[in-house]
Amino acid sequence: MPMDKAQLISWLGKLQAVLAEKEKYLTELDAAIGDADHGTNMTRGFKKVMEKLPTVEDKDIGTILKTVGMTLMSSVGGASGPLYGTYWMKGGMTLAGKEEIDSAGFVGFLQAAVDGILQRGRPELGDKTMYDFWAPVLEEIKARADAGDDIPAMVNAALPVGEKALADTIPLQAKKGRASYLGERSIGHQDPGATSSYYMLETLAQALAE
Ligand SMILES: Nc1ncnc2c1ncn2[C@@H]1O[C@H](COP(=O)(O)OP(=O)(O)O)[C@@H](O)[C@H]1O
Ligand SMILES: [Mg+2]
Repeated sequence: MPMDKAQLISWLGKLQAVLAEKEKYLTELDAAIGDADHGTNMTRGFKKVMEKLPTVEDKDIGTILKTVGMTLMSSVGGASGPLYGTYWMKGGMTLAGKEEIDSAGFVGFLQAAVDGILQRGRPELGDKTMYDFWAPVLEEIKARADAGDDIPAMVNAALPVGEKALADTIPLQAKKGRASYLGERSIGHQDPGATSSYYMLETLAQALAE
């Protein structure tokens, strides 16, 4: 079954709620290796997204996703604003004019979104960023798509992969962003951006289960 607009809107609402709930935790993670603003950044950004959403809800999925990206781009500062802004905008461009998302469309969305992070931040695998979460998740989703899985099955299979990828950021030394200034002292802490990315996948799975 394709993913419909109601599920997309539900995803964004759940994500906003989880980010608000985890604001303090995300900020604590960023306090350890950054500047203690990731929780407030994400909460502010998705509050704005929820304010903007009613103005585009009746538009096509590409327009909704691009609006999410542009809103994050303009309301979230730091590294994560442009990175997540690019994620949703580039992903949204692949779904221009669509009223629902089929399996191939979902893979295309995620590939473009993750490519957007790569173009914007130039992270490499192992740099201790959100890319360390998305790279293995995208690989799993593509493998499941090739095996003929539908979107909920792809996302459910990617969840444990993402959970592991998130934990795997802990022993890494940061090579990008503010955390890289800490050098070896960044080792032993979970990456804040990878953590908010995990919430994106988790809430998507929940929205798809409805
Ligand atoms: N060059 C980059 N490429 C990919 N992700 C990055 C890059 N720089 C930072 N990040 C991600 O952004 C997160 C930090 O976001 P945030 O705290 O909101 O921004 P800032 O670091 O500017 O304060 C990091 O945990 C990491 O996942
Ligand atoms: Mg920060």
